[in-house]
Amino acid sequence: MRILVTGGLGFIGTNFIRYMLSRDREVEITNIDKVGAGSNLENLEDLNGQANYRFIRGDISDLKLMAEAVKDVDAIVNFAAETHVDRSIREPRPFIQSNILGVFTILEAMRKYNRDACLVHVSTDEVYGEIQRGSFKESDRLNPSNPYSASKASADMLCLAYHKTYNLNVKITRCTNNFGPYQFPEKLIPKTIIRAIKNLKVPIYGTGKNVRDWIYVLDHCEAIRLVLENGRSGEIYNISSGNELENIEVVRMILRHLGKDDDIIFFVEDRPGHDLRYSLDSSKIRSELGWRPLHDFSSALKETVEWYLRNESWWRPLATKEILHPTPWKLNLQ
Ligand SMILES: NC(=O)c1ccc[n+]([C@@H]2O[C@H](COP(=O)([O-])OP(=O)(O)OC[C@H]3O[C@@H](n4cnc5c(N)ncnc54)[C@H](O)[C@@H]3O)[C@@H](O)[C@H]2O)c1
Repeated sequence: MRILVTGGLGFIGTNFIRYMLSRDREVEITNIDKVGAGSNLENLEDLNGQANYRFIRGDISDLKLMAEAVKDVDAIVNFAAETHVDRSIREPRPFIQSNILGVFTILEAMRKYNRDACLVHVSTDEVYGEIQRGSFKESDRLNPSNPYSASKASADMLCLAYHKTYNLNVKITRCTNNFGPYQFPEKLIPKTIIRAIKNLKVPIYGTGKNVRDWIYVLDHCEAIRLVLENGRSGEIYNISSGNELENIEVVRMILRHLGKDDDIIFFVEDRPGHDLRYSLDSSKIRSELGWRPLHDFSSALKETVEWYLRNESWWRPLATKEILHPTPWKLNLQ
């Protein structure tokens, strides 16, 4: 199978490319990434020169580039997106550009140059907005709360519209919060690990009671592979592991793994529009495609902490002033 992966130098894309190449010798991957926020050229440097892997630096909203890129592939897996909610609040425009116009361009390239290709569009639980009790099903209405989730919801709508109008083979996955190796230091888990390693205080938004359902990144990669190979066209698949935890609990677990005291936690003014709880019902992908998570949360979190301890040379150049500033939320919301 020839796969075009977009956004493959980011956190999940990097793990997905490594996962696919390690399990299938027949697969050929072209990775297009603009090397923007969240990416790191070093992530897949060791694959350069390998016959079944090719990297192109480029933007998914460039129609000429995408027209060339989709021509000879069997499938496209789109990870490319601006992903940090805080940044979307401060400066929404790049989110509209990449997450909406970028996906529109991929769909246009497929419509004009390769109607036989299949697109797996990687979306998020955030498109449903928050839920007090119970869990969202794929058929529930979208109710995004911030510019990031609104841009992802818009892209989902475009994908479904292109399936219905032009009969394109498009599948959507919506997954909960990922964690694991190669995640950019601005996100909660790596930021907490890195600040604690550096003996800096660890900030938590609001009361720390916001609930997220955490999934180890390789469980997400396996779910995407199953949707790519066996999912039905025009369908949405929720992906979740059932590890619902308050942010404060996750931070405390990380500090325990690092042998640090809880008194380095401090609470900061909450993010505007901060959803209290996300929760997905993933019974569809479990019953239809036989997916289930294979990684236990606590041991996968410990492994992740150990990965960051072992790979300081990976994160040191990425841990910018914004992440290491003694009061990072002030910079975030300016
Ligand atoms: N991280 C999570 O917890 C999570 C959960 C559910 C869904 N998702 C979705 O999964 C996808 C990947 O997330 P991630 O955490 O790996 O993000 P990331 O920020 O680590 O990586 C995104 C990658 O996309 C690239 N990119 C952005 N705009 C681009 C453009 N216009 N053209 C080409 N490349 C572009 C960036 O350079 C980066 O390498 C995103 O679409 C995100 O919405 C993430």
